[in-house]
Amino acid sequence: MGNNEVMNNNEVFAQLNNRVYEIQISRGDKMNALTDAMYGSLVEQLKYAENNNDVRVVFLRSDNKHFSAGNDLADFLETEFNPESNVVQFLLTLARFTKPIVCAVGGAAVGIGTTMLLHCDLVYAAENSKFSVPFIKLGLTPEGGSSVLLGKQCGVAKANDWLFTGRTFLAQEALDSGLVNNVFPDIEATWEEARNIAESLAKCSSSVLNETKALLKPDQDETVKTILKEAKIFAQCLKSEEAQAAFNAFLKR
Ligand code: COA
Repeated sequence: MGNNEVMNNNEVFAQLNNRVYEIQISRGDKMNALTDAMYGSLVEQLKYAENNNDVRVVFLRSDNKHFSAGNDLADFLETEFNPESNVVQFLLTLARFTKPIVCAVGGAAVGIGTTMLLHCDLVYAAENSKFSVPFIKLGLTPEGGSSVLLGKQCGVAKANDWLFTGRTFLAQEALDSGLVNNVFPDIEATWEEARNIAESLAKCSSSVLNETKALLKPDQDETVKTILKEAKIFAQCLKSEEAQAAFNAFLKR
């Protein structure tokens, strides 16, 4: 793919510009709830970015005011979940990624919409962002490495609070807890700032960027193990009556 050429697959777009590979989630009518096919595209595009020498930095965002309302709840009922599933492969690809990832968030950031941030290196949020990891309310357990990474990054008290209550928290709390790096007044300003930062990073050499990331994230292998351990328990929970009832309750509102 050359500069500016847009790759579009299953509501996920990507474009390479100034050595920044910009990936956009684009399912605004469903608050960017992520389907199996979308995870598949995200994996494809992350792998492309990982293996392409013209890419130095990834910039991840959505193309609308929400970041992501998490896994598509209808998909949870319909799609087989196991370590080979696209969603787990997406999380593993993020966790193993060797190049810096800059992320811009706004509006809803639910479930994996929050946990994927733990694998990004710099995260910027719009003031209207609403984060939550409401697994417990859905009869589910933590995923995406969040059972360990959230405590490491934001402190065990915060991780316990967010994961046991499943409550929504706002941009200021995310900033105060170290989940995000900075907050901007609206989504347009957030995209602009995040893109500027990604482009300024991309002026550094690949080796310096990647070595820096490797030094800052020395536990990537451990994170992979955590994601796989969580996925086993999550798979069991998904089949439970409690979880199935919660998904159906949402879908039949
Ligand atoms: N899966 C599937 N569809 C979803 C979705 C999800 N995770 N989140 C939102 N949507 C859809 C809604 O069904 C609705 O579609 P419709 O207009 O065709 O009916 C649309 O997106 C807008 O959502 P809505 O619930 O009407 O917006 P809201 O502002 O009232 O509420 C949320 C926003 C995020 C609080 C609410 O949508 C929600 O709780 N979503 C589920 C989040 C979740 O549990 N994710 C999984 C975590 S593991």
